[in-house]
Amino acid sequence: MKLVLLGPPGAGKGTLSGNLVKELGFLHLSAGDMLRSEMKKGSEIGKKAKSFVESGTLVPDDLIIDMMINVLDGEDNKVGIILDGFPRTVAQAEALDKKMKPDLAVNISTPYDIIIKRLSGRLLCKNCGAIYNTMSYDKDTCEKCGGELYQRDDDKPETVANRLKVYEEQSKPLIDYYKNQGILNELDGSKDSKVLVGEFKKIMEMYK
Ligand code: AP5
Ligand code: MG
Repeated sequence: MKLVLLGPPGAGKGTLSGNLVKELGFLHLSAGDMLRSEMKKGSEIGKKAKSFVESGTLVPDDLIIDMMINVLDGEDNKVGIILDGFPRTVAQAEALDKKMKPDLAVNISTPYDIIIKRLSGRLLCKNCGAIYNTMSYDKDTCEKCGGELYQRDDDKPETVANRLKVYEEQSKPLIDYYKNQGILNELDGSKDSKVLVGEFKKIMEMYK
């Protein structure tokens, strides 16, 4: 099962992916997590991506396509692969189709007022990447590994506004791209995260 997760910033792609990894043993490949890790290492990719990620604009297609296609090499035999945040443009989707055609695309639609509240309270574990929110978690260390929690630089309100604009202009067209391929499914991201896992499993059953 090769799955593409679509949805605006803060829709809950990373949270759903984390739950699917835990429950179904899927491999989670997040383009954003990879870019942040390259930036931390100070690698060539990280240096090229930095200004784009920090301003909430998309990294150029050629850079992201090379990075993701490299990562996908040799992963074809995994039980399940979740692509979170890739593709994000039609050019990226076409490149992915040539490398590894997805079986299923799931669009998480979450209203923007909910997204803005969620992103202003999101915390991530520096050590294991677990995702939390101050609305539902009041400790300052990770309950899974004890790691320190931090706020993402691009979760500042002005950067969030730009990310939503970029999503509307460049990534939303992917909904029609996968609808036309007959593999698009919808999840309502305003629901509880546990409910979403159950609904995702039902969708997956239809594609077995
Ligand atoms: P990326 O890291 O992918 O950011 P994003 O798409 O903006 O999405 P987020 O990670 O912010 O949100 P999410 O949907 O994962 O939500 P989460 O589960 O954390 O990309 C960052 C940047 O990298 C881009 O801006 C771009 O510059 C670059 N980039 C990445 N991919 C690229 C590509 N393909 N091409 C070009 N550039 C690329 O949840 C958010 C919060 O809500 C959390 O606090 C969580 O606890 C809470 N929450 C989640 N679900 C629920 C729920 N059901 N109920 C209540 N709370 C919930
Ligand atoms: Mg994410």
